[in-house]
Amino acid sequence: MRYGYFDDENREYVVTRPDTPLPWINYLGMEDYFGLISNTAGGYSFYQDARLRRLTRYRYNNVPLDMGGRYIYLRDDRQGEFWSPTWMPTRHELEDYACRHGMGYTRIGSTYNEIRADMRYFVPPGETLEIWDLTLENRSNEERVLSVFSSVEFCLWEAHDDATNFQRNLNIGEIEVADSVIYHKTEYRERRNHFAYFACSEPLVGYETQREAFLGPYRGWEAPQAVQSGKTSQSLRVGWSPVGVHHIRISLKPGEQRQVIFLLGYHENPEAEKFSPRGTQTINKRTVAPLIEKYLQPEVVETAFTSLQETWEQLLDIFQVRTPDEHVDRMVNIWNAYQCMVTFNLSRSASYFESGIGRGMGFRDSNQDLLGFVQMVPDRARQRILDLAATQLETGGAYHQYQPLTKHGNDAVGGDFNDDPAWLVLAVAAYLKETADWGILDEQVPYDNKPGTETSLLEHLDRCIQYTLDNIGPHGLPLIGRADWNDCLNLNTFSSKPGESFQTSSTQDGKVAESVVIAALFTMAAEELSQITKHLGLADESDRLKGLADGMAATTRRYGWDGAWFLRAYDHFGKEVGSKSCAEGKIFVEPQGLCTMAGIGLGEGLAETAMLAVERHLATEHGVLLLQPAYSEYYLHLGEISSYPPGNKENASVFCHTNPWIMISEAILGHGDRALDYYLRINPSKREVISDLHRSEPYCYAQTIAGRDTDHFGEAKNSWLTGTAAWNYVAIMQWILGIRPDYDGLRVEPVLPDSWQGFSATRKFRGVIYDIEVVRQGPGNAMMLEVEGEPIEGTLIPSINQEHVAVKVTLGKG
Ligand code: GLC
Ligand code: GLC
Repeated sequence: MRYGYFDDENREYVVTRPDTPLPWINYLGMEDYFGLISNTAGGYSFYQDARLRRLTRYRYNNVPLDMGGRYIYLRDDRQGEFWSPTWMPTRHELEDYACRHGMGYTRIGSTYNEIRADMRYFVPPGETLEIWDLTLENRSNEERVLSVFSSVEFCLWEAHDDATNFQRNLNIGEIEVADSVIYHKTEYRERRNHFAYFACSEPLVGYETQREAFLGPYRGWEAPQAVQSGKTSQSLRVGWSPVGVHHIRISLKPGEQRQVIFLLGYHENPEAEKFSPRGTQTINKRTVAPLIEKYLQPEVVETAFTSLQETWEQLLDIFQVRTPDEHVDRMVNIWNAYQCMVTFNLSRSASYFESGIGRGMGFRDSNQDLLGFVQMVPDRARQRILDLAATQLETGGAYHQYQPLTKHGNDAVGGDFNDDPAWLVLAVAAYLKETADWGILDEQVPYDNKPGTETSLLEHLDRCIQYTLDNIGPHGLPLIGRADWNDCLNLNTFSSKPGESFQTSSTQDGKVAESVVIAALFTMAAEELSQITKHLGLADESDRLKGLADGMAATTRRYGWDGAWFLRAYDHFGKEVGSKSCAEGKIFVEPQGLCTMAGIGLGEGLAETAMLAVERHLATEHGVLLLQPAYSEYYLHLGEISSYPPGNKENASVFCHTNPWIMISEAILGHGDRALDYYLRINPSKREVISDLHRSEPYCYAQTIAGRDTDHFGEAKNSWLTGTAAWNYVAIMQWILGIRPDYDGLRVEPVLPDSWQGFSATRKFRGVIYDIEVVRQGPGNAMMLEVEGEPIEGTLIPSINQEHVAVKVTLGKG
């Protein structure tokens, strides 16, 4: 069953009933100001950092689900009936409800009792505010008088403190109201120079700034007392729970329409000009006034919206395809690219499954996210690389996370996730392949953000390699440390205390447990750095790195191969993990994909064998499982992985992040049919028809799909902020469609299913637009390349200095 449909033309998903299985959300904002918004207007906003600068309050794990957001109440003042045009929070019946989630905006509209209401929410590019643009229309034959109530609940900035420190927080809330603007200024009197404002284009009949005054004692958002009675009390108390509620009254003649604009924004004042008049505690509003005035004008709102749409148009234009499969087109052209930008902006910090409190920017995660957005925002990718490298330690290791506001490494989590350094090399390689900006390697970057420790970025990369070399185990494979890509395979933790972190409470010295996954990542990273140094003319260094890559590949073939697939690891006792000799967890997906991608055992046929094992033991109709058989009990020596009930999360779900590694591997082996088949199994658009089972949004990837050991096999969970976004984009764009940036230019090397007669694509790359036409003449992947009508040897498009370059690929010829 579906809960809506794709409107590809407008690049929107249209939710046609509000009671989706889970809230189906979207994101507002792209630079400094962000919001999460669900299909019923739930969600919250923050400036830069979801923990430290939270504007509005949101209660995770709430009942009813998804209560709290950007709500409007309409009240027919003659009859006294009231409802919310976004369905929540009143859950009143509505006609023609539709939520249109688009690129950086959400529109929710409905009709009730012949009153049409359409709301558009978005953040204007370059601003730190969000616009709620409401249009009301009277579709009845009589004049109607409506009360409109807006509502937000302010968060007292630090979201964690806000949710825990009540003895203080119930006493510090402060608000000002001037004209139609409600100012939230908690802690402004002391150490903050920022405040929030909630403005309205209409004169107010009244307002509320105290939650209890608005809702009434013991009442919730579904039936606020003020709305029910049609009267506000102009509450203005210090302490308790600050809210922003405008009350306006609008009469509409038959057929009449009215636009009402609300602005919710974040603003900072210069330290010396915080107050006005001087000597008072009143906010100096002069600096924000012009901004408010500007965006309360309908033409300005329209221009801002157009500019937002143009921004997205440009971003998405970088890669557009027309293939025989609508699910491929839709995800590649619109939604997967969009999700990659969202993961760029938010890493793993704020979604409906990430509270915005616990997790900063992950080192490993952000480096992988970059693979999906580097072509859209290369300048920002460059900055991200430098920020990440600055959290590296002098040993070459890295802080596992950093806080976006300070950009400093997070001490509470620390380092020693031994895969982290390799991802930096892979991210820089992807950046260079996209941009050819070799100058980035000369950038001087500190370690641990300590001034005076700067070296070139190239040296940072070298230390990434050295870090692994300094942490080699008994078989010559890399030591795993706290964990590798799989955060839950904790071979040095041995945790038996409830509540202890599996990742940060390692108890062993870590000198035995080794990771085949890191071996594969190291092989890839050393190989890339070898090519990079070769390009720089550092032949000896390049040879040395190539030798290291080959050496690790050889060690992996010797000690990382289990006979029919790649082993996962050696544990603290030197015993195999992910081996036929194990009772459970005999085979893991990660090493099959990553070793193949690293080219390990390609020539020897190991990769072919490994992919057959994946198909036989791990592939299901809902995607490829992370491991089999699932762990049925807790194993002290394996850690968190076995803490999850079978089929969930790292314990044998379809952990979607890993699936593209299998798609890429199949493409590397030339198996176009299988590569695309795996791609489509987890493609959210393709799964739209089973929304009742899948439950998560049909327009973005989720982290996991429940595995077959569960009773909800096929249910997706933890949508949006997952490395799945970047890797699926890479798998389809670079390996199946085969349009792949390389150090010396763009490569075209499609590996398509036999049934595909071809496809066409446009790709902007290093300032040139490539118009690519792929035509199948026979089965197989053998290809002939023509550039501007001229046949070319190989698969690399030579660089031609013109705006458009025509590329033709004939497949299956000869
Ligand atoms: C989560 C983490 C990621 C990790 C994965 C597997 O997605 O963000 O860093 O690789 O889980 O454990
Ligand atoms: C838990 C999750 C894992 C995630 C980690 C991040 O272990 O299972 O997916 O990577 O938390 O801290």
